[in-house]
Amino acid sequence: MEIKKAIIPVAGLGTRFLPLSKVLSKEFIPLADKPVIQYIVEEVQKSGIKEIVFVVSPGQKAILSYFKKSPDLEKLLTKRKKDSVLKELKDFQEKFKDMEFSFVLQKEPGGDGHAIAQASKMAGKDPVAVSFGDDIIDSDQPAIEQLVEIFKTCNAPVVCLKAIPREKIPAYGSVVVEKIASRLYKIKKIIEKPEPSQISSDLVIVGKYVLTPDVFGYLKKAKPSKKGEIILAEVFDKMLNEGKTIYGYEIKGEWLECGDKQKWLKSFFYMALKDPRFGEELKQYLRTIK
Ligand code: UTP
Repeated sequence: MEIKKAIIPVAGLGTRFLPLSKVLSKEFIPLADKPVIQYIVEEVQKSGIKEIVFVVSPGQKAILSYFKKSPDLEKLLTKRKKDSVLKELKDFQEKFKDMEFSFVLQKEPGGDGHAIAQASKMAGKDPVAVSFGDDIIDSDQPAIEQLVEIFKTCNAPVVCLKAIPREKIPAYGSVVVEKIASRLYKIKKIIEKPEPSQISSDLVIVGKYVLTPDVFGYLKKAKPSKKGEIILAEVFDKMLNEGKTIYGYEIKGEWLECGDKQKWLKSFFYMALKDPRFGEELKQYLRTIK
């Protein structure tokens, strides 16, 4: 079955970026000169999906303007003979001209699962891809395409996984798995922020998924956890307890996390140093500073 839509929730509080996130949502912080959200959108686009539904907070409706044409600005740049920036702007707009963007509102930050549930009408009865707004995979084959390929063989929800050093796992969503093929697992249990004694694999959850319509049914019925949030990983765990099958796929590529300041800085340097426009000079500069 074709996957035609992707949901990108960006309505989180982004508390790890305070005070910046009071005025700028973390998805608009750049890696080199491109906001994180653009990498996420391009990953979805390169995976062959043309429809994107953002889940936004009341202050974020402007997200669509970023990807839209700006005729007034084009006119002004033309008048001022700013040819090279005008070309850059036009190239950027051209890139997204075939994409269909829309948004749904999450009035209160009720958790990542609650955010996805807001888009259930847009998803309808079809499976959808979901990518959180702060996890990028830099890879030859785009991450969502990798997950969709797996989905086509198994017709059940697919969760993106990545192996990380054991000592780091307590900060992530950890999985208990049964390996069924190269990189492919049946997920047996999900433990959010596990104690070291609960860790049974070196795999953790990356914020990218293919969701089937039944996941939306569970999300809608889910009760908020102690913190008042509906968390997708907890809903998955409930599904597993009720005998549902969920697959995990160990994604190929470099995981660039952007959820906190330290991770974002690493991802920033990764992208800036890789960029032929900035990399060489930046490397030389870094050698000169202590
Ligand atoms: P995070 O777990 O990173 O949470 O959300 P957060 O609220 O954005 O950031 P912190 O933890 O306070 O620093 C994962 C993804 O889910 C979205 C976020 O925007 C991010 O893309 N999300 C989270 C929502 O859309 N709504 C929510 O209520 C929570």
